[in-house]
Amino acid sequence: MTKTILTTTAGAPVADNQNSLSAGPRGPLLMQDYQLIEKLAHQNRERIPERVVHAKGSAAYGVLTITHDISAWTKAKALQPGATSEVLLRFSTVAGERGAADAERDVRGFALKVYTEEGNWDLVGNNTPVFFIRDPLKFPDFIRTQKRHPVSNLRSPTAMWDFWSLSPESLHQVTILFSDRGLPQGYRHMHGFGSHTYSFVNAANERVWVKFHFKSQQGVRTWTNEEGNAVIAGDRESAQRDLFEAIEGGDYPRWTLRVQIMTEAQARQTAFDPFDLTKVWPHADFPLIEVGVLELNRNPDNYFAEVEQSSFSPSNIVPGIGFSPDKVLQGRLFAYADAHRYRVGTHYEALPVNRPRCPVNHYHADGAMRFDAPKRTEAWYEPSSFGGPVEAPSAAEPPLPLHGDADRFDHRAGNDDYAQPGALFRLMSPAQQEALFGNIAAAMQGVPEAIVRRQLVHFHRADPAYAAGVALRLGIAFDAAPIAAE
Ligand code: HEM
Repeated sequence: MTKTILTTTAGAPVADNQNSLSAGPRGPLLMQDYQLIEKLAHQNRERIPERVVHAKGSAAYGVLTITHDISAWTKAKALQPGATSEVLLRFSTVAGERGAADAERDVRGFALKVYTEEGNWDLVGNNTPVFFIRDPLKFPDFIRTQKRHPVSNLRSPTAMWDFWSLSPESLHQVTILFSDRGLPQGYRHMHGFGSHTYSFVNAANERVWVKFHFKSQQGVRTWTNEEGNAVIAGDRESAQRDLFEAIEGGDYPRWTLRVQIMTEAQARQTAFDPFDLTKVWPHADFPLIEVGVLELNRNPDNYFAEVEQSSFSPSNIVPGIGFSPDKVLQGRLFAYADAHRYRVGTHYEALPVNRPRCPVNHYHADGAMRFDAPKRTEAWYEPSSFGGPVEAPSAAEPPLPLHGDADRFDHRAGNDDYAQPGALFRLMSPAQQEALFGNIAAAMQGVPEAIVRRQLVHFHRADPAYAAGVALRLGIAFDAAPIAAE
């Protein structure tokens, strides 16, 4: 076997990688040992800031194959029948830091990057169809309550339940989080959701609204709190290990991609706001339509380069797929690319893991660590008389009619935060309801009673049996009469 020669970062051969350069065998080191200095200096720079949320994650490559014809709704080339696209899917927990244990009760991230011939399409979703908030203004406040207390540096159940109990729009997601679905047995055994309402545009330039669902072909498997704690005691990387080893062993996980479609006319008539992220679209009214299969079949070669530096953004769309008026989505369209420019750097999209697999032509210039090799050109601005990339009017979306006063509208006024969580609660089996009560009661340990009672009112409004079950587990008397009288 030919030996690969160790070099410095400048490519010069390294003669000795075991012994520093010193003045005599017992003497101090010499400043000219630039190889030692290079090694220590590089180590000092090995970390980049972890993601402010979803810091702990696992990812794999695979392929999205379109098996059904949805061309009536979208012209996206990657969604046409028979199309196959390379993908990267990064799973994550939300609240924990990079070293957090995988088997914790938390929402799981489901961030998909589809490398299409029309650009990267990123669908940055979760394993839940809804979310805790419906206005992006509340996201930093919400995340504060999930992270550590500024004084104790401990997680704070009081802060979590204080925020949730003061934000009734969170009840739907809270009910999912503390149900048995809130602690998946690894990433292969959970569904994925785009969660937001997005839009499709077809070849005739007509728009419909769409929600994306990825159904695990491995089936949903979950752990109880006790099982999760036992897993963590023996293995903090259980989800990373499960995903990595399954793929290394050729057991490729798959998800069936389905969509729900709502016309613009239907959206004007639904009883609920179809752009409200705390609501699902009833499947009876908006049935799931099969689209294709997502398979993961290749582990990254380098975790840092391909997972830590992977950068997903809901603003990455392609012709045929668009946004919606969902306020949280609108906020996210800013937040992600901004995070990447700070966390990874100005040219994060030129890194191999993020680089589109199609030609990229733009007029952005320079900046720290510009590492591509720009070709000589006279057209470094636009419009110009010297050639250079020009716009593609065919990619324009149909106009979206908007109206109304510019104002800060109270998103809680007149919004029903209880019907859907109540319906979800009643769909659960008695055993699942018992698990829900127990998980909530466990998470409320140490929370001041006034906050607990405020939250019980929300449970009661969703279903009296919901509040009664939690109160019983907590061992507190909960009088529903004053609420009923309201
Ligand atoms: C990660 C912001 C809501 C799913 C992130 C990151 C930020 C962020 C800044 C870190 C990005 C990075 O450094 O790479 C926000 C804001 C939200 C919001 C401002 C609301 C206003 C949501 C929602 C979902 C979601 C509703 C799911 C439906 C994710 C996922 C990741 C993530 C999956 C990890 C992506 C990855 O694997 O790299 N979010 N987020 N977020 N967020 Fe959000």
